Amino acid sequence: MLVLKNISKTFNHNTPYENKVFSHLSFKVNEGDFITIVGGNGAGKSTLLNIISGAIQADSGRIILNGKDISKVPEYKRAVFIGRVFQDPMLGTSPSMTIEENLSLALSRSNNISLKWGLNINKQKLFKSYLSNIPLGLEKRLKTKVSLLSGGQRQALTLIMATMKKPDILLLDEHTASLDPKTALLVNNMTEEIIKKNKITTLMVTHNLEHALKMGNRLIMMHNGRIIMDIKGEEKAAMDIPQLLDKFEQTQGEKFANDRVMLAR
Ligand SMILES: Nc1ncnc2c1ncn2[C@@H]1O[C@H](COP(=O)(O)OP(=O)(O)OP(=O)(O)O)[C@@H](O)[C@H]1O
Ligand SMILES: [Mg+2]
Repeated sequence: MLVLKNISKTFNHNTPYENKVFSHLSFKVNEGDFITIVGGNGAGKSTLLNIISGAIQADSGRIILNGKDISKVPEYKRAVFIGRVFQDPMLGTSPSMTIEENLSLALSRSNNISLKWGLNINKQKLFKSYLSNIPLGLEKRLKTKVSLLSGGQRQALTLIMATMKKPDILLLDEHTASLDPKTALLVNNMTEEIIKKNKITTLMVTHNLEHALKMGNRLIMMHNGRIIMDIKGEEKAAMDIPQLLDKFEQTQGEKFANDRVMLAR
């Protein structure tokens, strides 16, 4: 479904800050996979998602989505079929526009030409039905400017916008990390529901190892730009946090280091 072939990426080539992040990285995502991605600071998780979304160009290698090479397709064109939610609630929505204007924009971004710009009663009904799935009261605030929303409300809205026209692939980069624990749980549950209901192929970076083990059908661990663990099914279901960390230490000969991961064990 999504294939990455021999991806290499070096930042700041030929400078004292040269940083080779990926060297011939390859991996394959199957249709319907919900992959959680964990790894230490600087492992390359965000860069991987950035390369898939087109925010960063790889130096070499190919990205094939549904049989088509999208390596040279610019980011704004990939956004039609790749949904994204970042860690920062300030990204992903337009603050000066209302909730319904943001949703309308997300809807018109698709290539469905029957949906014209503008707000009509049917669309308002549709938006209210999306928003009423989350207990944040947003369905009553369609005319509210997004700048007035909390971080959690903005992340929930961004998630709805990223998934309302089912994307071929959904990329989530620690999208609940900056939220308070209660709101993070809410957005997390909503994420799981939307992905399951719509069977959206998803890559989700998280620093929460418990979520990484509990959510999705497959878990990938990255370290120094390499995929060092790729587990699914029964193996994933049987794994707990101490085992996950032990496996990391055994293969890498060092301790798992991520300042945002709570290493409860
Ligand atoms: N735009 C950039 N310019 C230069 N270096 C970059 C850039 N983006 C990422 N890097 C470097 O690439 C490496 C991988 O970074 P990346 O952000 O992908 O890590 P990460 O796994 O997401 O880490 P974290 O858990 O801290 O979010 C790091 O060494 C980082 O400093
Ligand atoms: Mg990151």
